[in-house]
Amino acid sequence: MTHLLDVRDLVVDYVLADRRVRALDGASLTMASGESVALVGESGSGKSTLGSAAGRLLPPSADLRSGDIAVLGESLAGLSNARIRQVRRERLGFVFQDPIGALDPTMRIGRQMRLAQGDRGSIRDQLERVRLNDPERVMRAFPHQLSGGMAQRVGIAMALSARPRLLVADEPTAALDSQVRQDVLDTVFALAAEAGTGILLLTHDLSAVSRRCSRMAVMYGGRVVEDGPTAEVLSSPLHPYTAALARSVPGNTARGERLESIPGRPPVLTSESAGCAFAARCAFAEDRCRNERPVPTRVDGRTVLCHRVAEGVS
Ligand SMILES: Nc1ncnc2c1ncn2[C@@H]1O[C@H](COP(=O)(O)OP(=O)(O)OP(=O)(O)O)[C@@H](O)[C@H]1O
Ligand code: SF4
Ligand SMILES: [Mg+2]
Repeated sequence: MTHLLDVRDLVVDYVLADRRVRALDGASLTMASGESVALVGESGSGKSTLGSAAGRLLPPSADLRSGDIAVLGESLAGLSNARIRQVRRERLGFVFQDPIGALDPTMRIGRQMRLAQGDRGSIRDQLERVRLNDPERVMRAFPHQLSGGMAQRVGIAMALSARPRLLVADEPTAALDSQVRQDVLDTVFALAAEAGTGILLLTHDLSAVSRRCSRMAVMYGGRVVEDGPTAEVLSSPLHPYTAALARSVPGNTARGERLESIPGRPPVLTSESAGCAFAARCAFAEDRCRNERPVPTRVDGRTVLCHRVAEGVS
């Protein structure tokens, strides 16, 4: 079966003046067509790096060391610049955290939508579909004249205008207040479902995930440490890090609150982790956890990276 997205063992460093930061340390993730997958994990775990890599949109300071990314079976690594632009235009859509910053401040909305999309469909209709109720006014406006919620709806309209196969939404509602956040997410998911677009939602908001994404992948230290059906991952986590996260879900965590409930700090890697990156914070760590890298293990329809998963430690 051809996957919508197939990220395999991806290793990415950022090269700074005086050091390297390893952002992805062997990250793997696959998505089927039309699937909605949440990618969750603390700040710095590598979500945005993985999301950007899915469109070969990493900044110049990023060094893709090894691994592969394929969209609909086509590996992005060797593509010409012309072809990657075509893949982005025809198959991919991106929405980022800062809705106003993602737009050109010097140009009216209508004009930038026309430039970005050529003649595809009526821009007015696209703005109506994202539930902007005065599209004429929005088209005449400059980005700074819109609220954050309105600007993000414009961003979503632009990202979905070509009916992409995959939408990467990187904390699309983090800058919005909580009622607007729910409405905007509802709009994204409804439109994507209608168009058969798969969503990769990068987020800290576990309550949004639990209601909207059928699958969830948990990142830690630049790797996906647990991946499976959302309801099961949250109700019976198999990885000790997921278990700690799940304890902080609804009831205990306000919507949109960032995930900071686990004692200790996440690692900042400079090279390949020698063992399990969670070992320093894990109550179940033993010697091999510090010295041997865990490999993906399939358990009950889930993939888990933990040496002790068979013992049911979490
Ligand atoms: N442009 C960059 N230059 C240097 N280091 C970077 C850059 N972008 C990310 N990093 C580092 O790479 C690691 C992974 O970062 P990334 O932004 O992918 O994580 P994230 O899970 O998206 O975090 P957040 O939840 O804060 O958005 C972190 O250590 C981060 O500091
Ligand atoms: S591999 Fe070891 S340190 Fe890592 S999560 Fe499992 S038990 Fe904890
Ligand atoms: Mg991020």
